[in-house]
Amino acid sequence: MSDRFKAETEEDLQRLRKMLRKVTSGDEQAVRRRLAKKDEARILDLACGDCREAEVLTDFLADLKEPGDERLVKLTGVDVRAREIADANLRFGGKKKLQGKPGTRECDFFTGDASKLDGHEELGEDFDLVFMRHQNYWNGAKTWEEIYDQALNKLDEDGRLIITSYFDKEHQLALEAIQRLGGELIKSEFNPETRELITEGKSVDRHVAIFKRKK
Ligand SMILES: C[S@@+](CC[C@H](N)C(=O)[O-])C[C@H]1O[C@@H](n2cnc3c(N)ncnc32)[C@H](O)[C@@H]1O
Repeated sequence: MSDRFKAETEEDLQRLRKMLRKVTSGDEQAVRRRLAKKDEARILDLACGDCREAEVLTDFLADLKEPGDERLVKLTGVDVRAREIADANLRFGGKKKLQGKPGTRECDFFTGDASKLDGHEELGEDFDLVFMRHQNYWNGAKTWEEIYDQALNKLDEDGRLIITSYFDKEHQLALEAIQRLGGELIKSEFNPETRELITEGKSVDRHVAIFKRKK
């Protein structure tokens, strides 16, 4: 991995941290109240690739807990690409102390089809946060609608679904699809610091949106 790539990835992740705070602003108390009742905070990262955002996500939920709360933050990542999952496991797998705050994070990853999670009953359906970074609706709307459906099913009653998108149009299509499938859009924010990529109109975490399940 080149130094430039590492530096860009790190900057992208810092901007993602900011965007997560921005989309949850005004909604943190609801998430916090819910976390206070749980033995552990749970995150499901669908189509996670190498899940370079694992620490950002576990820190994000840890920061929403009450100060001093040492309970576990657990992340499960799924992707169809075995090589990416192996990389994620190597880098982030297992239990580790959270840096600079009390508590522990535990990450595990598996290779699998995120549109068919019903076969994985062990996952349960009580995730506090389901996350999809750079969802890919354009690249197979049917599969992605199935993935969104699974994402909403895996959310606990007051859990939150957060997606990020590379493109304006793809984001818009995803927002519409998720709302059709039973998601209630809380907020969608454009990332003013998004890093432009070579393809015109494509940039990193260009849009970030947060949903809850419609009652
Ligand atoms: C645009 S990439 C985003 C990867 C990663 N989240 C990121 O931001 O770098 C889309 C990802 O979706 C994964 N994917 C596509 N279809 C999938 C499926 N049915 N189940 C799980 N992962 C899938 C791909 O393997 C790929 O890693």
